[in-house]
Parts: sequence; C-alpha cells; structure tokens
Amino acid sequence: MIRSHDAVVETQFGSQAAAYVSSSVHSSGEDLDALAQICARVRPDRALDIGTGGGHVAYRLAQHARSVVAVDLSSAMLEVVAKTARERGLSNIETMNASVERLPFDDASFELAACRYSAHHWRDWEAGLREARRVLKPGSPAIFVDVVSPAVPAFDTHLQAVELLRDPSHVRNYSEAEWAAALSRAGFRVHRCEKRRIRMDYESWVGRMQTLEAHRTAIRSLQQLAAAQTATYFGIEADGSFSIDTLQIEASACRAHEL
Ligand SMILES: C[S@@+](CC[C@H](N)C(=O)[O-])C[C@H]1O[C@@H](n2cnc3c(N)ncnc32)[C@H](O)[C@@H]1O
Repeated sequence: MIRSHDAVVETQFGSQAAAYVSSSVHSSGEDLDALAQICARVRPDRALDIGTGGGHVAYRLAQHARSVVAVDLSSAMLEVVAKTARERGLSNIETMNASVERLPFDDASFELAACRYSAHHWRDWEAGLREARRVLKPGSPAIFVDVVSPAVPAFDTHLQAVELLRDPSHVRNYSEAEWAAALSRAGFRVHRCEKRRIRMDYESWVGRMQTLEAHRTAIRSLQQLAAAQTATYFGIEADGSFSIDTLQIEASACRAHEL
C-alpha cells in the first residue's frame, strides 16, 4: 500500500500514543525545565506546542500561559493529551489536529512557540518553520529541541540509517548549521543554543515505535559492524543502547527591521 508521508507519521504515532505519555525520555529533561522557565518569564497569552506527541511541553507551558494550543498530526495522540490534561486539571490546553506545514491559525496569533522532538518527522521542514514564524507575533520566542546530526558525515549517516530503520516516518536529524541557516531563512533570529547528550535504552527505543523484527536485526547489524570511531561517538553498548546529542535552540520571530 502506498501512503502519504503524513499517513506514515500518523500510523507510527497513532498506535503508540500512551507510550509517549509514559516515556521517560519525553516526560523529563533539562530542556523541559528550560522551556518552562522561558514561558514563566514571558507569560504569554497564547502559547503553541507544535508536534505535541504525549503533550509534555504543553503541560509545562500551561502552568505559565493563559492558554496553550497543542498541535499534532495524530488525532490519537491528541485524545491522550486531552485526557491527561483533564486528569491533571490543566483546563487551558486546547488540542488541534493539523500539520505544521499548514497551521490553521491567523498570522501573529501566538506569543510563544515550542517544538520538541518533532521537526525530524516533517515532510517539509522549511515550510513548517515558515508557518511557525507566521503565527508568532514579531519578537516572540520560539524554542526548538531535537536530536541533532553530528557534523562528521560517517556519524551522520549512521544516525540517519538507524533512525529510519527504527521508524519509517523519520525524515532527517539536521545539524546545528542546517538549523541555523533554515531558521534564518524562515525569519527567526537565533539567540542561544545548548547541546545535551541523552542515552537511548535500546529496548524501549525500538519498543516505543514497534520497530519490525527485520529492522531491529538490521540496526543491531549496523551497530556491530560500525567503525570504532562511530561506535565510540555513539557510545554503543552491548545491548544496542547508545547516546545521542540533542540541541535546544532559543530563537525569536524577527521584527520587520531584523529581516
Ligand atoms: C516524538 S513525538 C513528540 C514528542 C513531544 N513533543 C515531547 O516533547 O514529548 C513527535 C510528534 O510529532 C508529530 N508530528 C510529526 N510530523 C508532524 C507534522 N508535520 N505536523 C504536526 N505534527 C507532526 C507526530 O505525530 C508525533 O506526535
């Protein structure tokens, strides 16, 4: 069966919504604390969480924003987010089933946007960034967090290969330089970047995406045959667990005179 890219994303995430709410990689992290601090400082009227997944960004933003809109391609994800928000008494979170490439909001209708671990799935990354910029009021903060590609080509190829085998909706983990250039083209000004290293436990990493057995075998084979430099860079462990870099980018929507 031939499916659109967005349908592949929906299939991958729709069946695993609950796993993303409970995932420790997604539900905790210094980046979530940093996002909450920025939101506490800005106190936006309306904040946007793009590619909300299990809703962890939205739950944190909701403590400091008057209202939060949590956007995702997967309606199953959004149902779980709405239920979890109700259980946590967060009545100011609204969910919206939409694609980042076509956000159903007016220009300049949010005062903060956040996007965590979603951009590497977007069919058209640059269109998504332009939409994020369009719906933000000029000068408003935008925080992007994602797994970042290493600058060394051999490491980059290994990362993209295992990511795609694990999850057919993976498009690309971009490098810091690619992020900086694309954000500038989309009308953002980057103020600060912070890299962190996180460990991916192999079994929960493939379990969360219900990776096919044949693909798990291929991932393990790539890991076992990896050159020493690659294995060392990713800290590949005997059971397939490994470590990757994430990048937190703090940017703002350019004002007219900054464009
Ligand atoms: C790994 S999860 C996000 C995790 C979540 N933001 C967090 O911090 O825990 C990625 C999410 O991005 C969503 N997504 C992927 N492509 C999208 C797109 N083009 N538009 C909107 N959502 C998208 C997926 O449906 C999925 O729920």
